[in-house]
Parts: sequence; structure tokens; C-alpha cells
Amino acid sequence: MTRWVAELVRQYDPNRPLALAETIPASWYFDEGVYFHERQTVFGGNWVVVGRVDQVRDAGQYLTAEVAGEPIVVVRGRDGLLRAFFNVCRHHAAAVCTEPAGRATALKCPYHGWTYGLDGELKGVPEFDGVCDFDKSKSGLVPVRVGVWEHFVFVCLDSNAGELADFLGELPMRVAPLGLGTMKFVDRRTYDLNCNWKVFVDNYLDGGYHVPHIHQGLGSVLDYSAYTIENFGRCCVQSSPLDSSGGEAETASVRGGAMAHYYWLYPNFMVNWYEGIMDSNLVLPLGVDRCRVIFDFYFADSVTERERSIAVSERIQQEDIGVCESVQRGLGSRAYNTGRLSVRREAGEHLFHRLLHSDLSKA
Ligand code: FES
Ligand SMILES: [Fe+2]
Repeated sequence: MTRWVAELVRQYDPNRPLALAETIPASWYFDEGVYFHERQTVFGGNWVVVGRVDQVRDAGQYLTAEVAGEPIVVVRGRDGLLRAFFNVCRHHAAAVCTEPAGRATALKCPYHGWTYGLDGELKGVPEFDGVCDFDKSKSGLVPVRVGVWEHFVFVCLDSNAGELADFLGELPMRVAPLGLGTMKFVDRRTYDLNCNWKVFVDNYLDGGYHVPHIHQGLGSVLDYSAYTIENFGRCCVQSSPLDSSGGEAETASVRGGAMAHYYWLYPNFMVNWYEGIMDSNLVLPLGVDRCRVIFDFYFADSVTERERSIAVSERIQQEDIGVCESVQRGLGSRAYNTGRLSVRREAGEHLFHRLLHSDLSKA
């Protein structure tokens, strides 16, 4: 970490209780040095989601991702085991798999045709006769830790980090009654935003504070005054009773049931649950002031109004995009450095900022 980044990290005081807390400094949302340090310590040091299990269910199915700037491939082997590797050819470093997801009998590098087995071992090396001191068995793809929870595939680039189960903590136990496994993936939407990835996460974690102001449709079916916020481990769960009677018609038609639950897992993953309806949000940094948010929509078999449900979610996302991009512009203003947090609403943001500070404090 450079001295400059260390100085910026020191500006946040993680020990203040919520009632006295400030947000993280604005510079953390636009400083390039913080961005690169964050890549290493936050995205390179934790378990992060890269895709869905249904994308890699059968032998030969693979998906690619970028984590902390590193190209990654996750592939199901013939033996049924899921493995992850750096998607970097051992010859001259080209990406071996170039599609977002696919199916293959072997992983063949498109550059000079080196071929790796689904287990990462180097199998085929064209035109390499006469090369001395070259051990094929030591030239396989470099492995990465991989794990699965519910529908979600995680990887961790840090060999010293704990197990996925420890990282998730109480989350699996708490989510179990919601029956995530009974819902099936149906569709994906991808949004590119002109804001730092943390602005989107902050917005998600404000405990419904913005709902009555930004999301009038959603606000009309949530019981805002009974909305709860609870932190545990690296997670925050926001829950609200629902009352669709008298709510805005389109939203009310696809947000029935008694409760909404919104789970966030540090650093960049969310699961939003309504009865029979679920979506996950994965927030990916694309640069210091750009991010991509991937929404995967899942439904129980009994839910038929799928397109309408996705349309309601898309409208909410458009409302969030507007305010997130406005915040990013404001964070760059000389008029702003830090802000205060609502004790009633913004405990999730406080947890997020303290976890960030803890990771960014690592060398
Ligand atoms: S870089 Fe992959 S075969 Fe040459
Ligand atoms: Fe929102």
C-alpha cells in the first residue's frame, strides 16, 4: 500500500458507534490508489461470487469471470468435481476460455493450441519437440479455491483465507427456511452504472431510507415503519412486512406474500427474496467510477407473472441508477467529504464501511 493510500484509509475511524459514525471518506470512491488496493485486499482476499451452479452442472460446462483484475475459469470435471483456475495459458498467458460460459471436452487455448484437461492438466503441446527442461506435468492451469452455497459459485484468490463456510457464517442457517433451492433461474439483466461499486452497495444498505423518496411503487407495498435491519458477521439482512392491498397496481400484482427479505453478503453480493420470487445482485467494479450490476432472476414453479415481476425490478433498478450516478458526481465535489448515518436505518452501511476499513488496513 502506498503512503498516500494508507493516509486515506486512516481517515476513517471504525471505532465510532453508529450514532457518532461518519461515512467513509469521499476519496475512497474515486481515488485510483484506493481502487487498486481494494482490488487486492477486498476482492482478492475474500470469497466472491462468480456465477451460478446451473451454469456448471454437467461435466465440461465452464464459466469465466474476472476477480480482482484476474481472469478466472470455473469448470466441472469428468469426475463431477467443480474446479477453478486462473484463466491464463501457461505458454504465453492468453486467456484459454474466451466465452462468458460454455461447454467443452477440453480447454484449448486459442492462441497456439495448447490443450488442458477439465482438471487443468496440460495435455496437448503442439510443435514442442526439442524443448529441454520442460515438465508438462508442472505446466497445468494454476488452481483457485472454489466453493458453492445454494445456487451460487464462489472463488477465493487468497490461499490463506478461511473456508467458504466460515466466511458465510450464519447466512446459510438463516436463509435455509426461505427455500432458495426450490426456485429456478429464469433470466439475467446486466446494468452498467457510472458510479463506484460501493455507491451501489451503500444505496442497497441504507435500510429502506430512500424507498419512500425514490421507489414510490415499491414503497406502496412495504410497511416502511416496520422495516428491520440486522447485521451478523459479514452480512446484513433487511426485512419488511408486505401489504399489497392498496399498493401501486403493477408492483402489488407481483409482490404478494407476507414478507420481503434483502440479504447482503460482503463485499458485493445480494439476495432479494419475496414469496416464490428471488433475484441476486452481483456488483462488479469496472473502474474507479464505473460498475456493473448483474441481476439473476429466479422463480418458484408456481409463479407465472415472471415478465411483469422482472419489469417491476427493472424499474426499481432504473430509479436506483439515477440516484447512484448523482451520488458519484457529488462525491467528487469539493463541497463533500463525509456524511453521517441514520441510527434507525443505516446500520448496514456502517458494517460495510467497517469491513472495508479492516480489509484496506491490510498491507
Ligand atoms: S498462449 Fe496459449 S498456447 Fe500460446
Ligand atoms: Fe433502491
